[in-house]
Amino acid sequence: MHDIQQRLEEKRALARLGGGEKRIAAQHAKGKLTARERLELLFDEGTFEEWDMFVEHRCVDFGMADNKIPGDGVVTGYGMINGRLAFSFSQDFTVFGGALSESHAEKICKVMDQAMKVGAPVIGLNDSGGARIQEGVASLGGYADVFQRNVLASGVIPQISMIMGPCAGGAVYSPAMTDFIFMVKDSSYMFVTGPEVVKTVTHEEVTAEELGGAATHTSKSGVADLAFDNDVEAILMLRRFFNYLPLNNRERAPTRQGFNGGDPAGRLDYSLDTLVPDNANKPYDMKELLLKVVDDGDFFELQPEYAKNILTGFARMEGQTVGIVANQPLVLAGCLDIKSSIKAARFVRFCDAFNIPVITFVDVPGFMPGTSQEYGGIIKHGAKLLYAYAECTVPKVTVITRKAYGGAYDVMSSKHLRGDVNFAWPNAEIAVMGAKGAVEIIFREDKGDPAKLAAKEAEYKARFANPFVAGARGFIDDVIQPHETRKRICRSLAMLKDKKLENPWRKHGNMPL
Ligand code: HXC
Repeated sequence: MHDIQQRLEEKRALARLGGGEKRIAAQHAKGKLTARERLELLFDEGTFEEWDMFVEHRCVDFGMADNKIPGDGVVTGYGMINGRLAFSFSQDFTVFGGALSESHAEKICKVMDQAMKVGAPVIGLNDSGGARIQEGVASLGGYADVFQRNVLASGVIPQISMIMGPCAGGAVYSPAMTDFIFMVKDSSYMFVTGPEVVKTVTHEEVTAEELGGAATHTSKSGVADLAFDNDVEAILMLRRFFNYLPLNNRERAPTRQGFNGGDPAGRLDYSLDTLVPDNANKPYDMKELLLKVVDDGDFFELQPEYAKNILTGFARMEGQTVGIVANQPLVLAGCLDIKSSIKAARFVRFCDAFNIPVITFVDVPGFMPGTSQEYGGIIKHGAKLLYAYAECTVPKVTVITRKAYGGAYDVMSSKHLRGDVNFAWPNAEIAVMGAKGAVEIIFREDKGDPAKLAAKEAEYKARFANPFVAGARGFIDDVIQPHETRKRICRSLAMLKDKKLENPWRKHGNMPL
C-alpha cells in the first residue's frame, strides 16, 4: 500500500511539473504565472479540486507517442471563489505551448458539462498556441466541441475568459462566445490571423501587440472588456468581478453589503442638485453622477476605453447587484452611435439573462448623424439596443437626468419598452428633438427672420423642454429631486424584487445582428 501511495505522489509531482523547470522558468521570465499558480490565486485557499491530472494525449505522429506529459497542457477542476462554486480550466503554456489536443479539449468539455449540471460559472484561463499541430483535425474537432458547449451554456451559466498569453486562429472563437473577455497587458493577444499572414495577404506591417494586444481589443475592436497590468492583478480583479454575478440563470446575484452595515438606502446627496449644468449644451461627467447614487461609490466599469459615450458596468444598490447603463455627455455629447449601441445591448442582454436589474441613466441628444454611421449600419446596430431593452424582463429603472430626444428617448429603457419605473429630474427635456432644430424645420419659411425664429425657439423650449409633457401622459412616473435619486431607486428595486414577466414562447427571436 505504501508503495502505491508513494507512486501516486510521484505521479502527481510529475504532473504538477508540467513542461518542466526550464519552461516554468521561461514562463516566469515573461512575467507570467504558471497555470497552477494562476488557479491557486483564483480560488480560495485549499479549495481547488483538480480533475484529470493523469490524462494524456493519444497522438502517435511526429514522435508524439513518446512525448506525453500528464495533464496534457491544461489544468481543470473546481473550487470556491469567496465561498462560491466555480469551475475553471487553465491552459499550461509549458506543455506543448498550451496547444489544444483532442484530450485537452475533452478535459475542458468535462468541466463545462459538470458546471452546466450543477449550475456554476466556468472561468477559462487561456494561454495557448492554438490547435495542437501534430494532431490535425482531431484537435479542430476538440475546439468545435468546446464551441458547441459555449453556445449551449450561454445564458445558463456565466462564462468568463481571461486571456493570459497567445490566443490565435479559430481558438479566439471560444472566448468570443463567452460573456466577458479580460486580457493581461503586454503578455496576451488575440487575432484570427497573425502578423505574418496579414503581411502576406494585405501587405500591412503590424506587430502582434498592435494587431491583437490588450490595448487594441479594449479600445479599438471592443472584443475585450478590460485589461490588467499583470497576472496577479488580473486574477484578483476577476475574484472581485465574480462577486457581482449569480451562479446561474435561475439564481439571483449574491447580496453583499459594504462596511458598517452598508450604504443607507435613504442616503440623500445634495451635490446632485447642482451637478447638471443649467446650460443644456454644457457637458458633465455622468460617472460622477452615478458614483454618488450607487452603494459606496463602487462601480465596476466594463469597456471603459471603448465607446466612451456610453457607460456600462456593475454596481450594487442595498447590496444587490445592478447593471448600470448610462449615456456619457462628456463624449460625443452622449449620442448613441454604432459602437455604443452594441456595447450597451450586449450588456443589457447579459443582465437580462442572469436576473440582474438594469438601471439606466439617460442624457441623450439622439442617434449620431453622418455618412459613416449610416454606411456602417447604425439602423441595424442601433436596433440592437432597442431590441435588447424591449426584450428584457428583469426590473428596469430609468432616470432621465437631462436630454431624452427622439428615437433615443424610446430606446433608453423608456416606459414604452416596459420600463418599470421611469423617473425624470426637474430639468429633463423630453422631446422629439432640441428646440433649435425643431424650429428650423417647422418654421422653415421664417429662415430670414432670426428674431421670429428665436421667439419660436423659446416657445418650443418652454412647451416641450421639460419632463411634464411626458409626465402628463404617464410616460414618466414621477419627477424627482436629484438629491433623492438613490432613495427612489432603492424603493423601486425593493418593490420590483419579485417581478414576474415572461415573453411569448418562441424558439428564439431574430435580433438584428
Ligand atoms: C504544438 C506548439 C504549438 C502548437 C506552440 N507549440 N504552439 N506545439 N502545437 N500549436 C510548442 C512549441 O513547439 C514549443 O515547444 C512550445 O510550444 C513553446 O512555443 P515557442 O514557439 O517556443 O514559444 P513562443 O516563442 O512564446 O511562441 C508562442 C507562439 C508560437 C506564438 C504561440 O509557438 C506559435 O506561433 N505557435 C504556432 C501557433 C499556430 O499556428 N497555431 C495553430 C493556429 S490554427 P518546445 O518543445 O520547443 O518547448 C488554430 C486553429 C484553431 O489554432 C481552429 C479552431 C476552429
